[in-house]
Amino acid sequence: MIDSKEKLCEVLEIRGGKDLKGTIEISGAKNSALPNMAATILTDDTVELHNVPTLLDVKTMIHLLQHIGSDIYDLSGGVIRFRLKDLNSLEAPYDLVSKMRASILVLGPLLARFGYAQVALPGGCSIGTRPVDLHLEAFRKMGAEIKVEHGYIIGKVAGRLKGAVIKFPRKTVTGTENVLMAAVLAEGETVIENAALEPEVVDLANMLKKMGADIEGEGTDVIRVRGVRNLNGVTHKIIPDRIEAGTFAILSALFDGKIVIKNYPFEYLTYVHKIFEKIGFNIVKIGDNQVAVVRSERLNPVAVETKEYPFFPTDLQAQIMTLLTVVKGRSSVTENIFENRFMHVPELQRLGAEIRIKGRTAYINGVEKLTGAEVKATDLRASAAMVIAGLIAEGKTLIYDIYHLDRGYENIDSKLKLLGAEISRI
Ligand code: EPZ
Repeated sequence: MIDSKEKLCEVLEIRGGKDLKGTIEISGAKNSALPNMAATILTDDTVELHNVPTLLDVKTMIHLLQHIGSDIYDLSGGVIRFRLKDLNSLEAPYDLVSKMRASILVLGPLLARFGYAQVALPGGCSIGTRPVDLHLEAFRKMGAEIKVEHGYIIGKVAGRLKGAVIKFPRKTVTGTENVLMAAVLAEGETVIENAALEPEVVDLANMLKKMGADIEGEGTDVIRVRGVRNLNGVTHKIIPDRIEAGTFAILSALFDGKIVIKNYPFEYLTYVHKIFEKIGFNIVKIGDNQVAVVRSERLNPVAVETKEYPFFPTDLQAQIMTLLTVVKGRSSVTENIFENRFMHVPELQRLGAEIRIKGRTAYINGVEKLTGAEVKATDLRASAAMVIAGLIAEGKTLIYDIYHLDRGYENIDSKLKLLGAEISRI
């Protein structure tokens, strides 16, 4: 497991222009592991999760659950066992929540099982203010009294949460997951309308159903939950990380398909493949869920828009933009989910990319090649875009603030070294 302290001020040095080839394996999905770990609060039985990625965020969630009172055994190889038998605290303290916004995911389960929770209000992050108002409104509708005082969300329920009809005005991934985890132990039926459709929401629902929850409609706009009195333990394997997969598919495309990706969750990336094909890259299946991305002779510029699942994911926006900086012609990338997710643009410009931002759209003029420079990792997914840029840029690139990288990508530098990348932490 990664120790957060020593990683905070490291720099990644990359010598670009090397020829990469070989096989890379996709790890378990971070955004599945986090809600699934929060769901272990819902039972006093043992829960065993498999294929848990080794990430800073997973470590933070472990610390948070241990603070609450969970006994946690890291059985290595991505298997972790949880058991919340004796409650220690109903508080998610600021020092942990400030490291990881996804800590808000313990609010629903704590209200559902214990009727009380005190969770530090998650700060914003570089990509936007990231409010949680939709989560709090939903819990109020389910009968919780929610106050925000001194930077803490304080939730109280007299007795059990009550099922309710929750109409989300806009799709929210963790909002849907939080309400789902609250509803499974609530009294009566909860209907979530305009629910998020992400595969990670479906994975959480599958885990909860194996624990005895009564859920239907997951993966569609309307999820129906009938509350039960309690949930049993479960062993559950986490789905592969579609964002890590998409990131490495973009890398494979940039290295003429000499990079083969194992455990590739093909079905979660349909729309991303559509964009690849429009540019001139084809996803080639090599045996069971192994792929490579090969290019046709001519590459075309494209217009990409980020939207909620199943459309192009905002978490791949910086990565596809990096690829488009070296595709001849004028492309555009529009970010519709977050209000400030272009922090990587000035960094790409330092590497020689020609990009102009107008409102929510970045207009890209493809250049021959990028050249190495010193750049900053700005948010977790954008940091992967910087690594991709460094690998294709001519010369040396130094990436600062790489703790973002370790939050979301399991041992990315060792995975890339296996492909022949000249990459090291200094
Ligand atoms: C999840 O964040 C992911 N995190 C994000 O990945 C991902 O970028 C995002 O979904 C969008 O796909 C996890 O799953 C842990 P949202 P989440 O609620 O749930 C607004 C990563 O590090 N909104 O779907 O926080 C919000 O501001 C992260 O991998 C409200 O206004 O995102 C945003 O504009 C980066 N009020 C939009 O909705 C609310 O109460 C979608 O946010 C909640 C959200």
